[in-house]
Amino acid sequence: MDHYTVIGNPVEHSRSPAMHARFAELAGDHISYDRTLAPLGGFAETLNTLVAGGLKGANVTVPFKEEAFTWASRLTPRAKLAGAVNTLALQADGSWLGDNTDGVGLVADLKRLGAELGGSRILVLGAGGATRGILGPLLDEAPQSLTLANRTLGKAQALAEIFAIEVAAMDGLAGRHFDIILNATAASLTEELPPVSPGIFAGASLAYDLVYKPGGTAFERWALDNGCKNSSDGLGMLVAQGAESFRLWRGIEPDWQQVLVQMKEGA
Ligand code: ATR
Repeated sequence: MDHYTVIGNPVEHSRSPAMHARFAELAGDHISYDRTLAPLGGFAETLNTLVAGGLKGANVTVPFKEEAFTWASRLTPRAKLAGAVNTLALQADGSWLGDNTDGVGLVADLKRLGAELGGSRILVLGAGGATRGILGPLLDEAPQSLTLANRTLGKAQALAEIFAIEVAAMDGLAGRHFDIILNATAASLTEELPPVSPGIFAGASLAYDLVYKPGGTAFERWALDNGCKNSSDGLGMLVAQGAESFRLWRGIEPDWQQVLVQMKEGA
């Protein structure tokens, strides 16, 4: 059976094995998919051992996405733009293709939620690795505007130079209005809120947290309390990016929305 893995540190809580098992089951396909804990500083060595053992593909998670970018023999254009790789796929010629499916996963989930990205005013909070992976696919949807705000302005400015977007300070957003507000900061991991004026949520149609958490995140609750019409955590993005990895490996498009419903029920 073809062997796939998710490689990260930590990785024990990853939901990817259950998700890919479900994709395969629904498609009548058979794969083995497990978790691999790589030591910090030992990503390439761990991966090379798996490759020697016949590995066909991998998902790469925190903190190895940049190392996977360097490790891959070839890159898709969206991985190049993201500067990070979350999917590695063995090619027929023995080379390894590095892709980044995070952004398309996010866009697919925003569409599932009814968001109309074309012509919308999008605000992205945070300018770390997660943000870099999503900006290209968001801009492909032709929003009216895409504003990037970060606590450390210099990091947002560096990304703005690559993607030609507007930058704002987090504390400089009062009085601004947006349709879709995306939280790509690491703040939600500790139930903290980004230091933005809550007034930005009034009239917004969707607040989306890239982090997922059963019962929702503090950011979601805060957005709804301040007049945002709808909110979501990032479980759908996780499932949709995984489906795109599966498609790349197996040539089959899984019914990710069905798997999302099942994962929510099991959460
Ligand atoms: P990731 O790869 O998950 O994006 P990262 O590269 O470490 O992680 O980036 C984390 C992002 O979350 C950064 O934009 C960071 O802001 P700074 O650049 O100012 O450090 C942001 N962040 C983390 N904790 C935050 C908090 N409590 N409030 C606001 N932003 C926060």
